[in-house]
Amino acid sequence: MSEKKQVTRRTVLMAIGFAFNAVVGAAIAIPVIGYVLSPIKKKSAYLKWISLGALDQFPEGQTRLATFVNPFEQPQDGETAKTPCWVRHVSGDTFQVFAINCAHLGCPVRWFPQSELFMCPCHGGVYYADGERASGPPERGLFTYNYKIVKGELHINAGQMPTLADQAMLGKGKSPCLG
Ligand code: FES
Repeated sequence: MSEKKQVTRRTVLMAIGFAFNAVVGAAIAIPVIGYVLSPIKKKSAYLKWISLGALDQFPEGQTRLATFVNPFEQPQDGETAKTPCWVRHVSGDTFQVFAINCAHLGCPVRWFPQSELFMCPCHGGVYYADGERASGPPERGLFTYNYKIVKGELHINAGQMPTLADQAMLGKGKSPCLG
């Protein structure tokens, strides 16, 4: 009888042990599975065409600051949903829309029309007017948004930071898409 009780206690303890292991295993496995499967969700799901305003806000030959609201804004985002970018009107329907973030570590770059250079205040990164790297620690030029012109307004494909991966995925690079 005593031996039977002992077996029962051991069975209960083993069951508790298995249950505990299952809970810990699930707590570890669920985030890992989510991470592994996350690339399946299309990156373009976080991109949306939005307007930066009428073309006449961006005079030909000039670079102007524009601000848009992240199309995937959350209520808690507040002011951080407002995203600045630099718009360079090259000529005619040709534009360049640069992400404001330095390609080094992401500080906001400023445009200096006198010297026709973008400069980064953090570590001295410098870019030419066309966004190409001029000097400093950045290893490449400024990232650009894809754009198109719709009914006299400049639209960009926004929602997440433009990166090399996005541009390769979309297969558009810096080319304009006129819509
Ligand atoms: Fe711009 Fe480092 S973040 S140079």
